[in-house]
Amino acid sequence: MDSYVEFFSGRRVLITGAGKGLGYALVKKFYENNALVFALDKKQAYLDALKVEFPNVTTICVDLRDWDETRRLVKSIAPIDHLVNNAAISGTSFFEDISPEQIDGLFSVNFKAVVNVSQAVVKGLIQHERAQGGTIVNISSVFDTTPSKGISIYSCTKAAILMLTKSLALELGDHGIRVNSISPAPTAMLKEMFVSPNPKIVHETQKVLDRQVIKRPVQPAEAADLVLFLSSPNSAMITGSSVPIDGGIFSR
Ligand SMILES: NC(=O)c1ccc[n+]([C@@H]2O[C@H](COP(=O)([O-])OP(=O)(O)OC[C@H]3O[C@@H](n4cnc5c(N)ncnc54)[C@H](O)[C@@H]3O)[C@@H](O)[C@H]2O)c1
Repeated sequence: MDSYVEFFSGRRVLITGAGKGLGYALVKKFYENNALVFALDKKQAYLDALKVEFPNVTTICVDLRDWDETRRLVKSIAPIDHLVNNAAISGTSFFEDISPEQIDGLFSVNFKAVVNVSQAVVKGLIQHERAQGGTIVNISSVFDTTPSKGISIYSCTKAAILMLTKSLALELGDHGIRVNSISPAPTAMLKEMFVSPNPKIVHETQKVLDRQVIKRPVQPAEAADLVLFLSSPNSAMITGSSVPIDGGIFSR
């Protein structure tokens, strides 16, 4: 492939949780490479700001916890060639304090919505006979395989994403759709993601981060570059993989 711009020109890309953080960096990266970007978020204000900066982006305001409305809106923009399941929420609690609401909330956004959006996208690709070359990239976390005290349910949602990625790669490979995930170390937004009133939990998370060999946060644009690669034909032989962008955490 000569250039990303050449490949992504006119290709339809859906990014969930597009309003800020890594989602924003993904919108910018795909937009700059001439893709037709569909930005989904639950916050209209974030989407309005995106529209000012990137006028050709199509915005979709929906709460991913609403299965039917999400399904309806994603179906309405079919076919989507490249999906990035980026939206997620975090939650911190030591084990004895975990509530059923917390489990349902985290799994609803971080896992169930990924199934819903992916299913709608895949159906659209197959119906439009456009599945060959389609990709899904799921945004996981270094905490998908590395436990840390106080974030067990968040970690479980990301571990579930790893198995979903492998299972979908297997099932969708016959259609020519590749499915991968990335596991980033914390970005500069970590503190926002893991806001906790409990300093002990922050301390425990920091112990994992101290294992980084490269001692700085991952830049959102660096993670977006990896997603661009995994969505492009340059990664044509990669599917069912979980690719770390971890500053060396997994090397220890
Ligand atoms: N921040 C980090 O340090 C870090 C590290 C590793 C992995 N990740 C992963 O990267 C991804 C993005 O993280 P981030 O830090 O950029 O997140 P963020 O909190 O900065 O942004 C998340 C976006 O998703 C949207 N969103 C949340 N719930 C939604 C819902 N129910 N429906 C629709 N939109 C919803 C929010 O409005 C927001 O715009 C997540 O999957 C996260 O688990 C983050």
